[in-house]
Parts: sequence; structure tokens; C-alpha cells
Amino acid sequence: MRPGDLLSHKQAGRPIAVLTAWDALSAALVEEAGAEVILVGDSLAMVVLGHATTLPVSLEEMILHTQAVGRGLRRPPASQPLVVTDLPFLSYQCGLDDAVAAAGQVLKATPAAAVKLEGGEPETVAVVDRLVRSGIPVMGHLGLTPQSVHRLGYRRQANDPISQERLRRAALDLEAAGCFSLVLEHVPAELAGSLRRELTIPVIGIGAGDDCDGQVRVTADLLGLTERQPPFCPPLLNGRQLSITALRGWVEGVGQAKPPALTPPAGPGHPAPPTTPAAPATPHC
Ligand code: KIV
Repeated sequence: MRPGDLLSHKQAGRPIAVLTAWDALSAALVEEAGAEVILVGDSLAMVVLGHATTLPVSLEEMILHTQAVGRGLRRPPASQPLVVTDLPFLSYQCGLDDAVAAAGQVLKATPAAAVKLEGGEPETVAVVDRLVRSGIPVMGHLGLTPQSVHRLGYRRQANDPISQERLRRAALDLEAAGCFSLVLEHVPAELAGSLRRELTIPVIGIGAGDDCDGQVRVTADLLGLTERQPPFCPPLLNGRQLSITALRGWVEGVGQAKPPALTPPAGPGHPAPPTTPAAPATPHC
């Protein structure tokens, strides 16, 4: 799967399933499940690295996790899902050259064929334009943008006509700058639906209703592995509790096992224990 293939999916009305992965194990599950796109999202900062927000994760860590994701893929390269890696906070905000270097590093060192970045301010649109002109496919991300948590929180975004119009213009600007798809997170469903119709590129929703060209979810949330899931991502199973119960059963089994008594080691200072004469072998017949 290549970035441009997502457009054919939209045109043919084939929904696009995007799931996150963060290592070889999760990548193998997601590939086997049939997702068209694997997103190495910077949510891994919270989900697997234990940070309180996505801000601390570094470019080097994103590269390391994307390399592990690549090692988990089993299909022949031509039929593998498209791997997209999030550019982490401050890897693309400090200048166009830095952004190209960061995104280029991801494409050089990992199996990712595209990067995702957050926001639609003019400065971000300029970064998208520069990356695309440098040959780097870019997925946009508007609405709830976790890298802006200290400004916007984790609330639903674009709730009034003015902010909806601002988001709509940002989406059009990102498309014009060359984004090959756009994630819309935690925005009103009607807004996502109308943007899906207005934009040529696919709109991939999370907490944005069903009227999208595709959906993206954090795999650990879907599997119920995280302690709390966002309200717009109900788990498919209670993976955390199932795992804890299974592991607790195993731990209790170890506690109740009666291992054979230890025989003291022989050697200097440890006289060999008296041996009992071997019993005559019992014939089997
Ligand atoms: O980091 C991430 O996992 C994401 C998805 C929630 C879209 O950006």
C-alpha cells in the first residue's frame, strides 16, 4: 500500500482502516487483522512509554519504534500495510530545514513511507508544502491535536461556527499543500461529513462520526489494554482485565506448586548425602 492508494480507496468508496502499532508484536497483530495503514502514532509516548502527554517522545524514539514495527511485518513488501510515523513535538516546528531533516530521517531509517504532523496554522501548512516538495508524503491531523494539549486540552474541538470555519480552511490549505490524507480527531460528525465531501483527499476520523472515508484507532484502546480509554474509543474487549486475571492465575499456580526438596550440593565442605542403595529395577511385564 502506498500513500496515493488511499485516494483510490476513497474514490471507490472502500473504507480505510488505520490502526496504531508501536513494536513488532503489535505490528504483526495489526497487519494480520488487515488494516490498510499502520500508524506509529506519538500516542506511544503515553501508551507504552508511560508519559503523561505525547510531548516528551523524541524523534529517535519514534524511529526506534518504527523500525521495530517494520520487523513485525510478515507479508511481502508489496502487500504490506502503509506505515506512517508521527513527527514528534518540536521536530517540525523550529524551521523548514529541520522539518525536512526530521521527516527525511524517518523515511531513511525506517519502513515508514509517510509522516503525520499536527495542525493547520500557516506555519504548519508551509512545512507540509516543503516536505511534499522534498518527496515526503504527509498525512495531516486537525481537531483534537494532542501536541497542543497545553493550549487546547483533550476537549472536543470546532464546536461553534467560527472554529468550524477555521478548521475547514485549515483542511483546504493542507490539501492544497499536498497532504495525501487528513486525520480529524474529536470534532462534530457533521463537520467531518461535510469536509469529507469537500476534500478530494481521504478524511480519516477518530471521534468524528461514521461519515468519514476511514477510521483510525489507538490499538491499545481498542483492545482495552490502557487503564482509561477516551470517550470516543470504547474498547472491543477488556484486554487489561483478561490479561491480569490470566497472569494472576499463573502467579498463584507458581505459589502453590510444590517443587521437589533441594538436595544440598556435594563438594568440599559439603559431604555428599548418604546414598540409599538403588532398588532393584521393576520389570515392565
Ligand atoms: O498518536 C496517535 O496515535 C494518533 C491517532 C490518535 C490518530 O495521532
